[in-house]
Amino acid sequence: MKKIFAANWKMNKSPNEAREFMNELSQKISKIDVNKIQFILFPSALAVDATLGLSKNLSLSIGVQNAYFAGSGAFTGENSAAVAKSMGCEYVLIGHSERRTLFSETDEFCQKKISFVQSLGMIPMLCIGEVLAERQSGQTFQVLKNQLHSGLKEIDPAKKIIVAYEPVWAIGTGQVATVEQVRETHAMIHAELLAMGYQNVPLLYGGSVKAENAGELSRIPHVDGFLIGGASLQVDSYLAIAQASLN
Ligand code: PGA
Repeated sequence: MKKIFAANWKMNKSPNEAREFMNELSQKISKIDVNKIQFILFPSALAVDATLGLSKNLSLSIGVQNAYFAGSGAFTGENSAAVAKSMGCEYVLIGHSERRTLFSETDEFCQKKISFVQSLGMIPMLCIGEVLAERQSGQTFQVLKNQLHSGLKEIDPAKKIIVAYEPVWAIGTGQVATVEQVRETHAMIHAELLAMGYQNVPLLYGGSVKAENAGELSRIPHVDGFLIGGASLQVDSYLAIAQASLN
């Protein structure tokens, strides 16, 4: 399985800044062994178009950070996955903790999105993760299992999906989970997915990943890549994470 390096730009970068990033990336990416790596970029919806042209030459896939579970209609402010697909997007990020916390997205909502995205032939990336109080009170595994079972309810195990484990307390805080925490949590999620009938689901870690911690995190069993926020905004720090993971 290729290691996946997914960049979540969140609500950052204008189309011009996105173009500059892609230009710089195209000059520097040749230093990386792209046969071992899959890059996925999630720009804001307004910058998707600016990234698509160069992405084809770079064998880099583009996705949207959110999409509604209908192709079109009266859903003011939402992204259409069908339009994203027609533009050339292959992935949709679903259930990021910021969507869950700031925009009240539920597991049931995520499930509808996963189902719709897959019906279009696109690949959903489902984010799951516990908040600090849940980790501290020993509820992490139960919370994650609930998110998996509700989010994947009636989702066909034969269809492609990626899962990203992002402890909410580690996102954007600089406080990365320890190797031991990632090891036991990824082992549990991997086992749970298998028990639910989902085989070969890439499992990413996210939360304050940077070049300094990517090497040791990437060697943990069942860490198939990373979902990267802050450190994906600069080409050098993004590529450094990929490089550190290959060493
Ligand atoms: P971070 O964000 O790398 O800045 O912690 C990760 C994410 O939100 O996906």
